[in-house]
Amino acid sequence: MSGKWKRQVSFTVNGASQSLEADVRDTLLDTLRDRVGLTGPKKGCDEGVCGACSILLDGRAVCSCSMLAVEAHGSNVVTIEGLGKDGEDRLQLSFIAHDAMQCGFCTPGQIIAARSFLDSPGADLTAEGIKNALSGNICRCGCYANIIEAVLAAARSGGGEP
Ligand code: FES
Ligand code: FES
Repeated sequence: MSGKWKRQVSFTVNGASQSLEADVRDTLLDTLRDRVGLTGPKKGCDEGVCGACSILLDGRAVCSCSMLAVEAHGSNVVTIEGLGKDGEDRLQLSFIAHDAMQCGFCTPGQIIAARSFLDSPGADLTAEGIKNALSGNICRCGCYANIIEAVLAAARSGGGEP
């Protein structure tokens, strides 16, 4: 592959500095999964529709399939692997406690979107507010009611912070 398509990309991923040479056409999702080894963000639609690939970019949930790796240069990236350690994350524990998943494919994206929502100043911490915030995250198993309950419970117990 020609060097003219290559760029050095440096960013922070889950608190660790990463620097790698990426093709300018590589998506952030493929780079995280195939180059950094983080398979928490899932490839569902690969076109910005399902939310399975959600990550936090400088604290905001974005679809990593719809971003180029080079666009993340200089940013702080957090994937599901970077939320909580050893099961300490209240939001993740709340998903387990409320049985908010079946196959689990959408779950990392749901939790990332919920994390971003709970961290937003003035977030509407109601079932309606959560539905709106997670409207870009599709669950093919139809676990929406339990997902909303899980996020509501995490919000009530202090915003889901570990
Ligand atoms: S895989 Fe990115 S939005 Fe569906
Ligand atoms: S738990 Fe299967 S897609 Fe959501």
